[in-house]
Amino acid sequence: MKYVYIETMGCQMNKSDTERMLGILSHFGYEETHEPQNADLLMVNTCSIRQLSEDKAFSQLGVWGKWKQTKPELKIGITGCVAQQKANKVFSRAPYVDFVLGTHKVYALPDVIKRINNGERVCECEETNLPSQNEKGYPINRVKSTNAWINITEGCNNFCTYCIVPYTRGRERSRLPEVIIKEAKDALNAGFKEITLLGQNVDSYGKDFPAKQPSRPELANYRLAQLLRELNALEGNFRIRFVTSYPTDITDELIETAVELDKVCEYFHIPMQSGSSEVLKAMNRRYDRETYAKIVEKVRKMVPDVTITSDFIAGFPGETEEQFEETLTAIDEFELDYCNVAAYSPREKTVAAKWVDKFIPEDVKDERFQRLNKKVQENCLKSNQKYVGREMEVLVESYYERKGKLINTGKTRNFKTVHIPYDKDLTGEFVKVKITGAKTWYLVGEIA
Ligand code: SAH
Ligand code: SF4
Ligand code: F3S
Repeated sequence: MKYVYIETMGCQMNKSDTERMLGILSHFGYEETHEPQNADLLMVNTCSIRQLSEDKAFSQLGVWGKWKQTKPELKIGITGCVAQQKANKVFSRAPYVDFVLGTHKVYALPDVIKRINNGERVCECEETNLPSQNEKGYPINRVKSTNAWINITEGCNNFCTYCIVPYTRGRERSRLPEVIIKEAKDALNAGFKEITLLGQNVDSYGKDFPAKQPSRPELANYRLAQLLRELNALEGNFRIRFVTSYPTDITDELIETAVELDKVCEYFHIPMQSGSSEVLKAMNRRYDRETYAKIVEKVRKMVPDVTITSDFIAGFPGETEEQFEETLTAIDEFELDYCNVAAYSPREKTVAAKWVDKFIPEDVKDERFQRLNKKVQENCLKSNQKYVGREMEVLVESYYERKGKLINTGKTRNFKTVHIPYDKDLTGEFVKVKITGAKTWYLVGEIA
């Protein structure tokens, strides 16, 4: 038996890739360990969305590189977005690395492991124009016992001027419906209670079928709404979510389908990025403030109790104080329930990284980032307070002890976290909960 430790950084895409890689490795006799010191194989699954994330990846490799001096048989690999972006340049910066595996090559892992165990040094980073299909049917070692994440698209075609993802994940590729449905069925049979469909832009699911699947004319108009219908029809009591939605790609059909299907939850993640129409234009987002407002208004009107979350960037090149304030007012005006916020970080290859003369000084960027965070917190609390006194259905995801109290934690259909003090483990159960209190990041409730 050999042991593998994977340090996962970045978004849900990476977490989902880690689950696949652990599944593949378990098939080849590697057991996961949570103690890196005990591992025979150390892997860092990296993110390069900001410079800081990239730096974190190399400092992790640096630590492990030192371990190798006293344990030469140790194998070290780098995967994910930094791997894809740097490819064999990793070896000159971190010579103790045994393999670099790009984001398109998760299923090349068995071959890579064989080769490094024969003493080779391997870089597998070619891009492909097909999505990963798991043709050999390797297991997927999911981290959570209740929630299964399933990729439906990989890559992105949008080329927002700040974003490295189209370079690290390649062009958009939709996985075939039957492959997704099989993964969902397997997860449900294994007892999972929630399926989250993942993609950089889930609403463009299927748009590449006519070109890539010419022998499958029935897929020509197959889109997210159809996929949701097929998944909703699967047997059992479970929930369906999908992230991320690009604002202008959310169709009326999708919203209507989401409302009509009982298993699809009242939750939309619709990143706005900036509240200023001028900044949005410079970001190459294909909407302005008014268009975003209309979309959010429509979703709110059509989907009762919907939670809408978003992402924003502070200090994009050229952003004025007034334009930044438009972001603060957007969060209020659109009553966004929660937002991920980040300070702009210039990324290699991207268009905005060349606008050096428009870069915002670090201290100004940081100050805007802090104000943005404060606004998000205030609104989050306000949004949570709306639910005090209500009865909601919670899917319990974990059970633990905190300050001497036993607590079940889970999510409502509309993605609110609820803490339920209760001395019995209800993980995996749907429970009716009366909401008794609201904090910034979660609700408190008691079993109804
Ligand atoms: N596909 C999603 C976003 C994926 S990246 C969308 O279109 O919204 C996740 C988030 O990282 C983005 O929403 C953005 O807010 C942030 N981000 C991306 N590039 C960034 C950069 N260069 N600097 C700071 N934040 C960035
Ligand atoms: Fe990046 Fe824009 Fe694609 Fe989202 S839509 S992944 S922000 S390029
Ligand atoms: Fe995700 Fe980071 Fe890559 S956000 S897609 S892991 S660059």
